[in-house]
Amino acid sequence: MYTEPYETSDYKYLIDAAKRAAERAYCPYSGFRVGAALLTSDGNISTGCNVENRSYGATICAERTAAVKAISEGRHNFNAVAVVGYYENHESDDTMTYCMPCGICRQFIAEFAVPADFIIIVTDNKSIKIYTLDELLPEAF
Ligand code: THU
Repeated sequence: MYTEPYETSDYKYLIDAAKRAAERAYCPYSGFRVGAALLTSDGNISTGCNVENRSYGATICAERTAAVKAISEGRHNFNAVAVVGYYENHESDDTMTYCMPCGICRQFIAEFAVPADFIIIVTDNKSIKIYTLDELLPEAF
């Protein structure tokens, strides 16, 4: 893992795409908005938000929304994902916290991640943290 400032990061564009996706979150039960922006090897970005359900277990995370969109459009090589999350009544810049992908999303993304390249980017709006997939999903199945 390494960190760098958000404002000057080369990944700012990907984080900003994740922020725009988070604005479309459907999260009436948790109130926690999540956005993901997935970069594929053709340079495309697939975005996703969390989509909750009254049957809580049917909820889908932002990262898997983005992944399923990419796969269904024929983009199978994932290079990076940026993830943002914040409580919807606390949208000011200084309340965003690092939103780490859940275990299911880590496993789901691993299926399509280009192994040597893939990185996960999270931010609190001041700095960003960049992880390799192996750091977040060691000894994966
Ligand atoms: N959530 C995501 O979308 N991605 C994550 O990595 C963590 C959790 C969503 C699921 C649920 O709608 C809300 O955040 C609260 O758990």
